[in-house]
Amino acid sequence: MTTVRMATDADRDAVVALWQSCDLTRPWNDPGADFDRALGHDASTILLAEAARAIVGTVMVGFDGHRGWVYYLGVRPDRRGGGIARRLLDGGCDWLAARGCPKVELMVRDGNPAAGLYERLDWEYQPVRVFARWLGQKG
Ligand SMILES: CC(C)(COP(=O)(O)OP(=O)(O)OC[C@H]1O[C@@H](n2cnc3c(N)ncnc32)[C@H](O)[C@@H]1OP(=O)(O)O)[C@@H](O)C(=O)NCCC(=O)NCCS
Repeated sequence: MTTVRMATDADRDAVVALWQSCDLTRPWNDPGADFDRALGHDASTILLAEAARAIVGTVMVGFDGHRGWVYYLGVRPDRRGGGIARRLLDGGCDWLAARGCPKVELMVRDGNPAAGLYERLDWEYQPVRVFARWLGQKG
């Protein structure tokens, strides 16, 4: 049976390992620091899918006061195709809605086939370009 729960500090290493196995990490992001920031803030969290006491999926969500955002959606390669991402996204949306968030958005890197998942789950494509600026140190 797969359950969904909130991450705790004790999950850090297993979560980072899952992100790496899902190719969700990038050289300019420190995944451990990303985990710590998400759990160290009351406007963000990480939800985990767990089966037989092993973490098989994650999603990070945060509410910036205007929109909710989704990051680090990943399911362990051997557990894909079983609806885990759908459950994690639903759980993340519930978490955001409970905090008064009216709309949730996410970014998909060009070329990532995961875009098909969001279309399948009726997320609406937004015709926007994303610009970014580092504030101080990268990471
Ligand atoms: C993308 C990912 C999270 C999907 O996880 P998953 O648990 O296999 O997804 P689900 O089983 O919940 O899929 C839900 C629905 O979307 C469909 N779907 C899943 N991935 C899809 C894809 N790449 N393209 C089209 N449809 C997809 C499923 O068939 C399912 O449809 P159904 O309910 O009609 O059967 C997983 O493949 C993954 O971890 N990929 C690597 C990390 C990544 O790219 N994350 C997203 C970053 S933006």
